[in-house]
Amino acid sequence: MNVSTYYREKRILITGGLGFLGSNLAHKLVSFGANVTIIDNLDPLYGGNLYNVGSVRDKLKVIIGDIQDESLITPLLVDCDIVFHFAAQVSYIDSLNIPFRDLDLNARATLSILEIIRKHNLQTKIVFSSSRMVIGKSNNRIVDESVPTNPLSLYAIHKLTSEKYLLMYHSDFGIPVIIFRITNPYGVRQQLKHNKYSLVGWFIRMAMENKTITIFGDGKQLRDYIYVEDIIEAFLLSTANPKSNGEIINLGSGYSSEFGEMVKNIIRIVGSGEIKYVDWPANYERIETGNFQVDISKLKSLTDWAPSFTLEQGIRQTYEYYKLKLSHYI
Ligand SMILES: NC(=O)c1ccc[n+]([C@@H]2O[C@H](COP(=O)([O-])OP(=O)(O)OC[C@H]3O[C@@H](n4cnc5c(N)ncnc54)[C@H](O)[C@@H]3O)[C@@H](O)[C@H]2O)c1
Repeated sequence: MNVSTYYREKRILITGGLGFLGSNLAHKLVSFGANVTIIDNLDPLYGGNLYNVGSVRDKLKVIIGDIQDESLITPLLVDCDIVFHFAAQVSYIDSLNIPFRDLDLNARATLSILEIIRKHNLQTKIVFSSSRMVIGKSNNRIVDESVPTNPLSLYAIHKLTSEKYLLMYHSDFGIPVIIFRITNPYGVRQQLKHNKYSLVGWFIRMAMENKTITIFGDGKQLRDYIYVEDIIEAFLLSTANPKSNGEIINLGSGYSSEFGEMVKNIIRIVGSGEIKYVDWPANYERIETGNFQVDISKLKSLTDWAPSFTLEQGIRQTYEYYKLKLSHYI
């Protein structure tokens, strides 16, 4: 089946849909003719931005509100075929400073969505944005979905808790759920206000402002950077396949790059900025995951997806975007 046909006229709710992943997804779904509703509270700490959907504003519905407001979210969930649940406290670094807020958003809100669906509409499919962080240190293994989890931050503990809620409601009540463990996403429509998550975008900003980019340690740790268009394609293809129901799926590019190489690429492509190496600060080192290489064979077995963007192409595309639109994101 053509994937666009699957989504045509489907009723789709995107929580956190004014943010980076949600808005990129919304653009694609609108182009397929889906009926898209976004709920987002535009919390200034995160990447919610009305500008992200400016060009498709008349083709979707935007509700400014909090996902924790059950009277607001219940009718939206009752009236939908698929919910992409992306709203979150996104910073793993902040999670220790705001532990209960992180618990509320990254765990309790998922349980609340599941309960509403259990009571009102068991057919609603939930697609959840989890994170590679649930694994913790990879200890130089290539991480597939069966590697034991050992989260190092409250963010990751609460994401893992949501995963468990989703799998339980799937097995006990048959609710279709799909969990994506996303590696290191970057690309257009991402906030560049701070460096508390998603460093590629932040470093592009630093380079554009001809600033010094600080690398902790030797910069040799491996990361799997994935460009946002590839992520959205993987979401769409996997969600359309009923075999994905009840599955945890790694979502990365399948290629690993050294952190320092990523920064050098940015400086070369942008043509300004410089690098400074410093020691790891103690509070970062504790939660640093070390090398992270991910096995994406499950994703590939469920779909005919393959990444289209190399790191260099993705950085180039991101830079071209922010060259024109930086002021909307800082
Ligand atoms: N960016 C990353 O590095 C990364 C990596 C892995 C997983 N994820 C996950 O992907 C999802 C999307 O992240 P993103 O990168 O698009 O971040 P983002 O900050 O761009 O988007 C998050 C959105 O959630 C909204 N939001 C936050 N609290 C809300 C609330 N209480 N009610 C309604 N809306 C609320 C924000 O306003 C924002 O628009 C998150 O669940 C995140 O944990 C992100």
